[in-house]
Amino acid sequence: MRILSGMQPSGEAHIGNYFGSIKPNIDLLGEEENIFIIADLHALTSVHDADTSRLYRQNLVHDLLACGFDPEKGILFFQSAVHEHAELQWILSCITPVGLLERAVSYKDKVQKGIDASVGLFTYPVLQAADILLYDADTVPVGQDQKQHVEMTRDIAQKFNHRYGENILKIPDVQIHKEVAIVPGTDGQKMSKSYGNTIPLFADETMIKKAISGIVTDSKDANDPKEPESCTIYQLHKLFLLEKEASVLADDYREGVSYGDAKKRLLEAFMDYFGPMREKRRKQKDVDMKIIMAEGAKKAQSLAKGTLERVRHAVGLC
Ligand code: ADP
Ligand code: TRP
Repeated sequence: MRILSGMQPSGEAHIGNYFGSIKPNIDLLGEEENIFIIADLHALTSVHDADTSRLYRQNLVHDLLACGFDPEKGILFFQSAVHEHAELQWILSCITPVGLLERAVSYKDKVQKGIDASVGLFTYPVLQAADILLYDADTVPVGQDQKQHVEMTRDIAQKFNHRYGENILKIPDVQIHKEVAIVPGTDGQKMSKSYGNTIPLFADETMIKKAISGIVTDSKDANDPKEPESCTIYQLHKLFLLEKEASVLADDYREGVSYGDAKKRLLEAFMDYFGPMREKRRKQKDVDMKIIMAEGAKKAQSLAKGTLERVRHAVGLC
């Protein structure tokens, strides 16, 4: 079974990224075949400054390693280091209907948020399809927001197979863990770098505190009973708890806990959970990761080459 994840180096990694994308991959390290792509070509759709791009790429490598990605057990690499991604994207784009891309919710959202409506942004899902299909991935763990992109990957692969021969491309499954499908941000909307509502994993403690104390709540008094399922503080806190512990916490909310106290407890839970990763991140921050990334790219490329050869042959390029 091959699990494939991807993340753009386009800002600071946050709790939503961790639970939606990073953790489901890392949890299966060693048990299944794991691939983690740092999608730096995708990030060029929104990051247009070279130094910032370099910084984000490097930071994401450090973040993923601190979160527990072990390059001995899985493959971690930069998308841009394996040119097969761009080549497969072109071939796939020649069979992808414009109408399919026009239905992409993420494209419309991003344009609405002010990201340039470039050709790259429009064809983003085709590059993502190439990322997934190059590695014959069985399953792709993502948050709810990426479900449509994986479904488009399936559509594109099916269309390709239909035209050029069954079983050339493997049709991947999308994997969404219900409990973490949409991690809420501090304003109650989906947590996202582009909404400025994140709790970053590796920011200074003062920043984390500030983010948590900024979580939007209603104006109930301290002793008023609160409905945990509609409280963002609870929704975030339960990510760190086992089911039983979460149900005890939910009872506390129903009995009436002050929001100030609830936030204090959330901060403690965050620090307990991420403390060791944050420590690891601090220690490794100056370590050069070039060798690890070169190794990762080599392994990825040897897999990607095989698929691309199959595809080139199928379409008549060799
Ligand atoms: P962002 O919206 O912050 O830019 P990305 O697009 O970089 O996040 O997402 C990287 C991965 O993290 C994707 O698999 C995405 O589904 C997941 N993810 C991002 N935000 C959330 C969230 N709030 N809840 C669950 N998963 C998320
Ligand atoms: N589009 C994904 C996101 O914004 C990142 C990504 C790029 C990805 N390539 C991928 C995710 C392949 C899963 C598989 O979050």
